[in-house]
Amino acid sequence: MSDRLAFVDKFPSAARITRLSMGVSFTALTIGALLGIVQALHRTNVFRGVISSADYYSVLTGHGVLLALFFTIFFLTGIFTWGTSRSLGRELPSPRFSLAWFLLMFSGAVMTATAIFGGLVGQIPFSADVLYTFYAPLQAHPLFYAGLAAWLVGTWLAGADWIRTYYHWRQDNPGERIPLQMFMIVTTMLMWYIATLGVAVEVLFFLLPLSLGLIESVDPLLTRTLFWFFGHPVVYFWLMPAYFAWYTVLPKLSGGRLFSDPLARVVFILFLILSTPVGFHHQYADPGVPEGFKFIAMTNTMFLLLPSFLTAFTVVASMEYGARQRGGTGYLGWLRALPWGKPAFAGCALAGMMFAAGGFSGIINAGMNINSLIHNTLWVPGHFHLTVGTASALTMMAISYWLYPQITGKRLQFYGIAQVQPYIWFIGMGLMSNAMHRAGLAGVPRRTAEPQYQQFDFAPVLGSMAEMRLQIAIGGTLLTLGALMFVLVMVGTWLAERGRGRLRVDSHLPEPISGPSDSPRVLDNVKLWFVIAVVLVVIAYGFPIYSMVADGALNPAAPPFPV
Ligand code: HEM
Ligand code: CU
Repeated sequence: MSDRLAFVDKFPSAARITRLSMGVSFTALTIGALLGIVQALHRTNVFRGVISSADYYSVLTGHGVLLALFFTIFFLTGIFTWGTSRSLGRELPSPRFSLAWFLLMFSGAVMTATAIFGGLVGQIPFSADVLYTFYAPLQAHPLFYAGLAAWLVGTWLAGADWIRTYYHWRQDNPGERIPLQMFMIVTTMLMWYIATLGVAVEVLFFLLPLSLGLIESVDPLLTRTLFWFFGHPVVYFWLMPAYFAWYTVLPKLSGGRLFSDPLARVVFILFLILSTPVGFHHQYADPGVPEGFKFIAMTNTMFLLLPSFLTAFTVVASMEYGARQRGGTGYLGWLRALPWGKPAFAGCALAGMMFAAGGFSGIINAGMNINSLIHNTLWVPGHFHLTVGTASALTMMAISYWLYPQITGKRLQFYGIAQVQPYIWFIGMGLMSNAMHRAGLAGVPRRTAEPQYQQFDFAPVLGSMAEMRLQIAIGGTLLTLGALMFVLVMVGTWLAERGRGRLRVDSHLPEPISGPSDSPRVLDNVKLWFVIAVVLVVIAYGFPIYSMVADGALNPAAPPFPV
């Protein structure tokens, strides 16, 4: 099939689901970013006119849920729908089924958002000030949990839809290697099926019945454990769409080809296997989990660095290849030959750079002893605004500059704004995240409207608390500006007339330098990898969860482990 034809003309139903998913994703981004600036200015005491401190938790819950869950994962369903159709060269089998899972996810998201923002509007009896980690003993209105459950089931059906499409393709193409994009989608979804079991049990068996008054109490340690069973792998659900783009689109945007398809497959298998048995690293400070399990989680976590390092190597090698194809020379001089003026490339590359920094602060978080230095301080949001807040978010925005025209058939509007936008985000995040890390080291807590540290000293002397506050405020403002610039480009493109001017996107994705035939076929045996992943999860979680349940799953007072 010709690559000249826009995706929307080849696969109109898949393009529609991708457009709808992205529409919801970008709406969540807009609202979330506006809440972000409110928080940044409020907690730094720079401007407090918008909300009262009492409402800070509602705002923070909205920011976390809308950005970390809805913006990222609706983007994922969009890009994976596109990737399934594109890499298999066919539509998803039933447009009605695809629309059904999208609508289920959408209505779930609306319910959850209503519960959160109902708390901000006085007359509405909802409230959900439970933050995006929503574990007990905090309690939200049942609508919050019901919405999350519906949304989650929607993601499961979406995965089933993509995997079913893959099976249809397999019947027509026995013996062929799985196309790389499809391989990434399947492994990511298998990881998601394992990981979401924890949160589904937490919500359906404990939190929802608790909020409905059907049960009187829950065991906070058990529900926290179930949450973090899900809470670490969810970060790969945020990151995998970015990796997907870095591996399969970024090499082309740099003017070259992917360095190695086999390495990419290995990386996704490692994520499938290793991403779940690490959740205890979020519970280093939880009493009741024996040190030994925390230690196993730490060791597994450090192993997880491997696929990230492999990614850094493969992606940078592909970029270097592209740059040299474009005439770049020298040890580092080739960097100048990259297309920094193209927003899709620039955004992905800057996001990758910030991810490296986020990876380093993540190693600090993962260290069992050094973690106590930064636990629950502003360092932690400093860290994850580099990972999910930039590696994922900025890549998603950047890749949209390339993808959105293909799924709408329209030319990207406001190109000049799109060109500047990734740099605004980069500078804003450089300021905000750096200052958050430093403030965290100085002991400033996260998740509070009133971090009472030299609140009234406002001379921003270098190294002072006031200087860090100012950096957070300026950085946060630039970031929100960056998000709004992105949304402006998307809305402009969406509203533009179709067919005006030629669609200036080259959608062809070249073959990798080292292709799938250079790797053993066992890599494609996803069933095998799935089974190994399940076995590792059972080893890491079997005994701890068994002990927590054995003392009475609803008994919040009982010591979780035999003492
Ligand atoms: C928390 C600002 C974008 C995810 C925060 C906090 C600030 C902030 C100041 C810390 C609040 C506190 O601990 O008291 C901003 C600004 C953004 C932005 C100005 C610009 C648009 C993002 C993006 C994501 C994100 C793009 C993810 C995709 C989160 C999460 C939290 C958070 C998950 C933690 C919420 C919690 O502690 O429950 N943000 N952020 N933010 N942000 Fe952002
Ligand atoms: Cu984690």
